[in-house]
Amino acid sequence: MNPMPLPKRYVILISGRGSNMDALLDAGLPGECVGVVSNRPEAAGLAIAAARGIATHALDHRAFASREAFDAALADLLEGLQPNLILLAGFMRILTEGFVLRFEGRLLNIHPSLLPSFTGVHTHARALAAGVRLHGCSVHFVTPALDGGPIVAQAAIAVAHDDDEARLAARVLAEEHQLYPRVARWFLEGRLRLDGERVVLDGEKPVPGALHAPRAD
Ligand code: GRF
Repeated sequence: MNPMPLPKRYVILISGRGSNMDALLDAGLPGECVGVVSNRPEAAGLAIAAARGIATHALDHRAFASREAFDAALADLLEGLQPNLILLAGFMRILTEGFVLRFEGRLLNIHPSLLPSFTGVHTHARALAAGVRLHGCSVHFVTPALDGGPIVAQAAIAVAHDDDEARLAARVLAEEHQLYPRVARWFLEGRLRLDGERVVLDGEKPVPGALHAPRAD
């Protein structure tokens, strides 16, 4: 008799509020969250995870002499948790090339823009300043290029003429909470993988129609 396959193990990395983490934990993903790690001990998301009975780890990057030393400690912690998937969810640290290569193909990130536009921070203010009429969020595999890894999925929203940064951020965040669990599920189901620089998604379907913005008719 074949043994039952073990559930896939995933870890979530955060730095703050943890709303994407909460959305992932709410999604009933086909796997086990074996830990939430924050580089900031004061991150509000740690208390949320702990209240949900998940093992939490604070690894304060300020206690390390260099980026390499922090990443080495983070890699050791992660190796101990043996994750199949590592989800960066508002994890606001640039990771070293050595770290990324060690976990390549198992690292996903969510970024609040339609990449490759607006990498880095303050994406919503920059989208407003640029006058784009479509904005959104992207989930991508993490490679050494900042916010530059192969894109798995994107969600787009229309920018309203009277949007401000807070309103736009809230609407994008609501889409992040839908998009990230969907992608995580694909990965944990074994349908999503990185093949070199190429994203492979089994069962991908065409998406009909297009989003036109603005509309005045
Ligand atoms: C999200 O917008 C995420 O895309 C960005 O930082 C924000 C984190 O929010 N990288 P939360 O901690 O998930 O609530």
